Amino acid sequence: MSSWKVIAQVDDIFGEEPCAVSVDGLKVALFNVEGCIYAIEDRCPHDKVARLSEGYVDGATIECPIHQSCFDIRTGKVLSPPAESDVRRFATRVEDGKISIELDPS
Ligand code: FES
Repeated sequence: MSSWKVIAQVDDIFGEEPCAVSVDGLKVALFNVEGCIYAIEDRCPHDKVARLSEGYVDGATIECPIHQSCFDIRTGKVLSPPAESDVRRFATRVEDGKISIELDPS
């Protein structure tokens, strides 16, 4: 059974700057790409320590601040090495100015 959790307000995200939040012990990075809100796990799958919210945004791409792997913010797909796996992506929805992400989709 899926569960949606409110994790931020739309006003928390300014321009291309990522917003880092924590929910149930999980670190999540939120992004605004051309007016759409996206959420990925705020942890690079390469060394599992780097925070992608501290990386460099270029359109719909986030570059890891440690070894520069790039990921598609919209899908979580890895785009360049050294990371070899995708980053976890969460479905998002916005209601009444609040951003929710879907945890444990079924
Ligand atoms: S820690 Fe992100 S690419 Fe190495």
